[in-house]
Amino acid sequence: MENKNIVLVGFMGAGKSVTSQALAQRLGMMRVSTDECIVERESRSINEIFEMKGEPYFRQVESQVVRALSERVNVVIDCGGGVVLRKENIEALKKSGVVVYLEASPEVIYDRIKQDSHRPLLNNDDPLKAISDLLSQRMVYYGQADYKVMTDGKTVDQVADEIITFVTHC
Ligand code: S3P
Repeated sequence: MENKNIVLVGFMGAGKSVTSQALAQRLGMMRVSTDECIVERESRSINEIFEMKGEPYFRQVESQVVRALSERVNVVIDCGGGVVLRKENIEALKKSGVVVYLEASPEVIYDRIKQDSHRPLLNNDDPLKAISDLLSQRMVYYGQADYKVMTDGKTVDQVADEIITFVTHC
């Protein structure tokens, strides 16, 4: 898998950030994040971009960032949870490397992110329902990944081990 990127997709709270950090460290690769690039480009937080410019604008910037990051080599790409929604994004990412879907159940996702307030799509009265609804709408998109890892009940290192075993046999 020389020069092939590892691309992590999955719902908010699936563990993409911590897993991408662990993979980058263990494999000596650089880690990049679509959300972090968007925040840097826009000089605003994700919440502020959603509030001031709206989700369609966010998705547009996200696609530009995905295109740019897909040109890089030998990087672990931590993708925002909605990156898979646009066909052009998933196509660019698949060309750039192995796309891994980090799966988690709605209850586990809720438990992991209930303290956070930086996820505009879940800032509502019933976040668990919002998670379940969005997750079922998105299943078909996450299903386009090359490989899937269930993260419920696993440590970051266990998840990283599974991914490393898969990518080294690609
Ligand atoms: C989103 C996920 C977030 C961030 C934005 C939208 C989504 O990233 O990109 O709030 O649509 O699922 P994380 O998955 O890293 O939380």
